[in-house]
Amino acid sequence: MLDINRISFWAVLIAAFALTAQASPSFMYDVLKERVGVPQGWVRRSISNESEIIPLRIALKQANPGTIESTLNQTSDPDSKNYLKHLSKTDVLQLLKPSNRSAKVVRDWLESHDAHLSRRSSAHSLLVEVPVHKARRMLNADFSVFEHRDTSEKVVRTTEYHLPRDVADHVDFIGGTTYFSTLHTMRRPARTVEKDVQMPNTDQHGRISKVNLNQSGAVQNGVPSSCNASKVTNQCLRDFYGTADYKPKAASKTHIGIAGFLNETANYQDLDLFLQSQRPDALRGHASFDYISVNGATNNQSLEASTGEAALDVQTAVGITWPIRTSFYSVGGSPPFKKDEFTPTDTNEPYLQLLEHLLQLEDHQLPDVLSVSYGDDEQTVPEKYARRVCTLFAALGLRGVTVFDSSGDQGVGGDSKSECVTNDGNNKPTFLASFPSTCPYVTSVGATQDFAPERVTTKKFSDIVSGGGFSRYFNRPSYQDDVVTSYLTDYQGTQYHDLYNPLGRAYPDVAAQGSRFLISVGGKFELISGTSASTPLFASIVSLLNDARIAQNKATLGFINPLLYKRLGGSGAFNDITHGSAEGCGDYKGFKAAQGWDPVTGFGTPKFKTLLNKVLDL
Ligand SMILES: *[C@@H]1O[C@H](CO)[C@@H](O)[C@H](O)[C@H]1NC(C)=O
Ligand SMILES: *[C@@H]1O[C@H](CO)[C@@H](O)[C@H](O)[C@H]1NC(C)=O
Ligand SMILES: *[C@@H]1O[C@H](CO)[C@@H](O)[C@H](O)[C@H]1NC(C)=O
Ligand SMILES: *[C@@H]1O[C@H](CO)[C@@H](O)[C@H](O)[C@H]1NC(C)=O
Ligand SMILES: *[C@@H]1O[C@H](CO)[C@@H](O)[C@H](O)[C@H]1NC(C)=O
Ligand SMILES: *[C@@H]1O[C@H](CO)[C@@H](O)[C@H](O)[C@H]1NC(C)=O
Ligand SMILES: *[C@@H]1O[C@H](CO)[C@@H](O)[C@H](O)[C@H]1NC(C)=O
Repeated sequence: MLDINRISFWAVLIAAFALTAQASPSFMYDVLKERVGVPQGWVRRSISNESEIIPLRIALKQANPGTIESTLNQTSDPDSKNYLKHLSKTDVLQLLKPSNRSAKVVRDWLESHDAHLSRRSSAHSLLVEVPVHKARRMLNADFSVFEHRDTSEKVVRTTEYHLPRDVADHVDFIGGTTYFSTLHTMRRPARTVEKDVQMPNTDQHGRISKVNLNQSGAVQNGVPSSCNASKVTNQCLRDFYGTADYKPKAASKTHIGIAGFLNETANYQDLDLFLQSQRPDALRGHASFDYISVNGATNNQSLEASTGEAALDVQTAVGITWPIRTSFYSVGGSPPFKKDEFTPTDTNEPYLQLLEHLLQLEDHQLPDVLSVSYGDDEQTVPEKYARRVCTLFAALGLRGVTVFDSSGDQGVGGDSKSECVTNDGNNKPTFLASFPSTCPYVTSVGATQDFAPERVTTKKFSDIVSGGGFSRYFNRPSYQDDVVTSYLTDYQGTQYHDLYNPLGRAYPDVAAQGSRFLISVGGKFELISGTSASTPLFASIVSLLNDARIAQNKATLGFINPLLYKRLGGSGAFNDITHGSAEGCGDYKGFKAAQGWDPVTGFGTPKFKTLLNKVLDL
């Protein structure tokens, strides 16, 4: 009996094997490609319509992974003979290219499921739009609708997906699966901060008063007379950091880019209002910006559609850099869905769309500085997705672009202790790092307030606390080994050692004012705080540095962190911030600002003139 049973068992197994093998000879074994926890705030619901179409973006593996990073290591190291020898579009795309075999294997697999490539596929990532039931089969994945408890936003996602073994080796990750975008802006038009503020420098008829336009120059105790910490104007920022008397020399060749996600809309009329009161010479010079739509975003210039983040970013940048060319990249969502209760609204994976767009631009179309005032809690971004996006930021660096990102507005994490827990089901207390600031190829910017001395923003005065911390995905890059080790030894010790990863990429790298900027939104002035403010500010100052270099036929600064850590930090080119700390996650003090580099203000805030002398010598 035993024997017979055994024989029939094997016979059945072999028969089954043969059948499967015949049906699909090369796609047999499932490999678990990724598994994530459902991020806080999202609730699983059932899908009412299995025929609903969802996009899957298959990011193909690079033929030679790591070449982007190792090449960038040379072009960004001031001691390398290849320093600032930026690569062309063709060369960078070549480095990113998948092997022919990868492309073929993945195409064959898609074909075997009768999934057709969308025209929006590229050489690096293939897009298919398939019904949910097909996506389930292709990826052996448990797609559901997830609804956000607070915003009622709905997305179709899965918490894990699989690929046939032969295919898995050729794919970095698949977009549209495990990433629950919690992308948010890094600003607060907040409680203590007023709305509808009277324009500065105007009389009751709205006319600009002459007296106040001549504020540059006078400085008392290191504070220009144009500055008042409770209402920060662009003129003040230009006086304080020393850019006010710098006239751009290569404005038509220099180019600053501003990223816009989540329907953020920059308005031309708002920019005019802002310039009228804070930078009238630019207004007379017809300052404006290019509105560039990526992935179907619409440019709605009705004043009611104007939003705070875009207004803050564009106005700050144009105010500092005029007449340098400014582009606002408005990144739209993926295919529109019908709005009914269980229909997803948006399955947007915004960084990828922006990065693929930028990397396809010709060299003369590419901005040399990109300011990103958005971020996600790192742990809610699937690791494979984060790594791919980070490599694409590195690819921009290889082409000579400096990418800035806000370090976050909640110190070491969320508002309360209960938010600061791991996402892996264990709910272990942890500080929350912010992506893409944790990507070592991005320059992360923290925020300060006050002028004498400048200090870390506080909740009480600015409604935000400069973010800072350590990645759990990305190892500490070698460029910051020395300063981070010193900080941990000299100041941090073992405090909070179980709440962060001391071996991870530490951020921010630098800081700038980020408190109570006076900005026009929808025709009215508001005071807006955030690392969202400090980021376009710092990016603008680097844009002026680029301008000076371009005027001397020198290359743009590109990925700037190795230069920062090797040469500029600790050289007198920054105001070292030593007051305040990255309070967050309830009542944790977080990381303290300290002499030299620290994980709340980096090396500090820029001294433009000193930086200018140093970068012209490179
Ligand atoms: C389900 O979605 C498909 C594709 O969008 C659509 O054609 C169909 O009408 C929908 N069915 C129902 C019952 O809504
Ligand atoms: C970059 O170069 C430094 C030394 O210049 C080295 O320590 C580091 O490992 C390199 N990193 C990569 C990714 O090649
Ligand atoms: C890859 O495919 C391209 C275009 O089909 C071809 O030109 C190239 O020679 C192929 N490369 C290799 C290594 O086979
Ligand atoms: C404006 O500034 C200039 C240079 O600092 C100075 O000479 C002039 O007197 C000032 N004018 C007024 C009205 O304050
Ligand atoms: C700064 O502005 C605040 C609020 O508008 C005002 O109360 C204060 O007097 C100003 N300080 C100076 C020195 O002008
Ligand atoms: C963006 O705007 C469109 C059209 O007004 C709307 O359907 C969509 O829900 C908005 N998306 C977000 C994330 O606000
Ligand atoms: C532009 O935005 C306004 C205000 O949100 C809205 O009423 C209007 O319909 C929008 N226009 C278009 C063309 O989407």
